[in-house]
Amino acid sequence: MKLGVLISGRGSNLQALMAATARDDYPAEIALVVSNQPQAAGLERAREAGLATAAFDHRDFADRQNFEAEIDASLRGAGVELVCLAGFMRLLTAGFLEGWPDRVVNIHPSLLPAFPGIHVHEQVVASGARFSGCTVHFVRPEMDAGPIIIQSLVPVRPDDDADTLAARVLATEHQCYPKAVKWIAEGRVRINGDLVEVDGAGTPQMAAINPI
Ligand code: GRF
Repeated sequence: MKLGVLISGRGSNLQALMAATARDDYPAEIALVVSNQPQAAGLERAREAGLATAAFDHRDFADRQNFEAEIDASLRGAGVELVCLAGFMRLLTAGFLEGWPDRVVNIHPSLLPAFPGIHVHEQVVASGARFSGCTVHFVRPEMDAGPIIIQSLVPVRPDDDADTLAARVLATEHQCYPKAVKWIAEGRVRINGDLVEVDGAGTPQMAAINPI
């Protein structure tokens, strides 16, 4: 399965996908990396690895439709079959998403539907929540919404600040995203309304309690 990865920044989740797709037995490859930030560090990572890249600075476009039309054309030109948002900081319109039905996924650094949006880790720490984690989900027009494929769980520790929590969550993001994409590429992921079924996937039996 050919992936298009959309980024805006450092691209550590892109890096995790690059590492996964480099393996012989992984059922997907990265066909194109697109950034709306021409200076994104992730673009450099991709170029160094010999991947095709494109940059479309959203500030150069009169409106969202024109910006998205360029992205859409570049993805189709590269033969992309699944679009992976990996720290892509622009909302995609319903119009764009209609052209990619159930073909756009995103990773978000919280246990959705809790804590959508930005400044997630600050909000989690301030809330007193005992757990956080990440979510990979199919993208719907509403921000950080859509059928959930996989989540990870990490404890929030009493001495955490946003940075220490972010680092703990990010490490699990790098495990979850390649796993979710693999399942999709293997044809094991089905959407039933708001719910996702993953053929052959297990479920942990243990409750996690924090503090202990
Ligand atoms: C990640 O925390 C991701 O969940 C969020 O944006 C961040 C991107 O980080 N959507 P990176 O660019 O992949 O390192």
